[in-house]
Order: sequence, then C-alpha cells, then structure tokens
Amino acid sequence: MIQRTLVLIKPDGVKRSLTGEIISRFEKIGLKIIGMKMQYIDKEFAQKHYTEDISKRRGEKVRNNLLYYIASGPVIAICLEGVDVIEIIRKIVGDTEPKSAIPGTIRGDYSHVSYGYADDKNLPVKNLIHASANKEDAKNELKLWFGKKEIHDYKVDHEEHTLN
Ligand code: CDP
Ligand code: MG
Repeated sequence: MIQRTLVLIKPDGVKRSLTGEIISRFEKIGLKIIGMKMQYIDKEFAQKHYTEDISKRRGEKVRNNLLYYIASGPVIAICLEGVDVIEIIRKIVGDTEPKSAIPGTIRGDYSHVSYGYADDKNLPVKNLIHASANKEDAKNELKLWFGKKEIHDYKVDHEEHTLN
C-alpha cells in the first residue's frame, strides 16, 4: 500500500555535504518527495521528536546525547511517499549501529563506529539519518514536522512505469 514516512538527514549528514547523495538514493528507486525543508530545531522540539520512548528502549543517557546531537545543526526533513515506503526506507538506511550496517545501505556506506565506541566515550551514535520505524511513528512524526500546506500532491513522470 502507498504510505508516507519521515526521513531526517541529521546534522552530521548535512555538515558532511551528503544531502544530495542521500536524496538521490530515494529518488532513484522511484520514491516521491512530497515535502522537504531545512530546519534548525531547539531542544524543546527535539524532545517532541525523540520522546520518552527512547529512554525506555535505550536509556536516559542515550536520549540526552541524542537530543544534543539532533539539535546541533540544521537537519533536512523529508516526507517521502511510495509503496510500503516505511519498510523500504528502513532497508535503504540500514542498521542503527554503523558497525553493523551492511555496505550498500546509507549508514553502511558512510559511517562505521560501534555502540561500544560511542557509549564508552559518552557520544551519540552519529548515523546520518532518522527514518520513521512504523506506521504510528510515521503519522505522529509527520504531524510534528510538516504542516498541511507543506505537503504537495503531484505526479512524477515515471509513475506510469513504476506504479501502473
Ligand atoms: O534511528 P533508529 O530508529 O535506527 O534507532 P533508535 O533505536 O530509534 O535510536 C535513535 C537514535 O539513537 C539512533 O539513530 C542513534 O543516533 C542514537 N543512539 C545512540 O546515540 N546511542 C546508542 N547506544 C543507540 C542509539
Ligand atoms: Mg527510531
């Protein structure tokens, strides 16, 4: 089914000038960009994106480092549309831990550190991308990041070949 999802190019991806490279991977497989902007979020907004759920899953320390990381520079927020796009994007992005992310995935191609290294140094795991994990997260996250007027309905030329 056609779905929508949120992707963020995190501050490390933007500062490493990987924005174009990352976006082209989504476009090449036929996904449609229906919303996109650059935003420099503050800690309050970061807390709405990375909710208490992160503390429950990863611990309070990880969440605090993560809040600092995501608000440390501008991010590119993208709303993507496509068939089963939530799962497809997670596949293209790769494993959360750069060390485990396989080559060919964005994280596997552009990052390499381990949880052990980051945790030992009390650093966030800089893995370039955020991607909604499931339908409910995608719905809530898109509502947080995009207003209705920032989402655009249009046809791309290749739909005739990719979707029909
Ligand atoms: O981003 P993803 O959905 O793959 O993973 P998550 O479990 O939702 O964790 C959110 C983010 O926390 C990760 O993408 C990492 O940037 C960060 N993290 C971290 O800084 N240190 C860890 N030990 C684990 C995750
Ligand atoms: Mg997540």
